[in-house]
Amino acid sequence: MSTTLCILVGTTTGNAQYCAEEAAFRAQAVNVEAEVLPMDGLDASIFKAGTTYLLCVSTYGQGDVPDNARGVYETLVKNKPDLSGVRFGIVSLGDSSHAQTFCFAGKRFENILAKLGAERVGEVLNHDASSGTMPEEATAEWMATWLAQAFQVHTPAP
Ligand SMILES: Cc1cc2nc3c(=O)[nH]c(=O)nc-3n(C[C@H](O)[C@H](O)[C@H](O)COP(=O)(O)O)c2cc1C
Repeated sequence: MSTTLCILVGTTTGNAQYCAEEAAFRAQAVNVEAEVLPMDGLDASIFKAGTTYLLCVSTYGQGDVPDNARGVYETLVKNKPDLSGVRFGIVSLGDSSHAQTFCFAGKRFENILAKLGAERVGEVLNHDASSGTMPEEATAEWMATWLAQAFQVHTPAP
C-alpha cells in the first residue's frame, strides 16, 4: 500500500482548507506524504486506483457541495467512473442549524464514491459549526484514528 495521501478541498469560506492543512501536517508527522489540492478546476479523473484520498468538504446552499467542488462531484455523477481500488475518508463540515441538510455535501460524496466502487476508510467526521469547537482541532484529533486505519501508522501522544 502506498503511503501517500491526496487531500481534496471543497470550501466556500476556507474552514475546510484549514482542516486539510491540519490533516496534511498530521499525516506528514507520521511519514505519510500528503498533498492538499483545492477541487477548483478538477474533475472525477483525479481519482486513481491505489491512491488514498481525504475529502475535506463543507456544505452550502441547501445541502449542496461548494461551488469549487461541483466539477468533481458532477463528473462523478455523470461519468460514473469505476473507482475500484480507490480508498477515501471524509471530513464533512456543516452546521446543525441547517437541520434538514446537516453535512449533506460530505454525505453526497460518500454516497457517490461508494456507489462507484471506492472503499471508505474509517468513520466520517461530521463537524458542526454550532458546536463551539474549531473544525481544524476536531480534524487533528480525528486524524490520529483515521491515519491508523488508513496507513497502520500511529500518532505519538502529544
Ligand atoms: C449560505 C450558507 C448555507 C449553508 N448551508 C448548509 C447546509 O445546508 N447544511 C449544513 O450542514 N451546513 C450549511 N452551512 C454551514 C457551513 O457548511 C459551515 O459553516 C462550514 O463550516 C463552512 O465551511 P467552509 O468555510 O469550508 O466553507 C451553510 C453556511 C452558509 C453560510
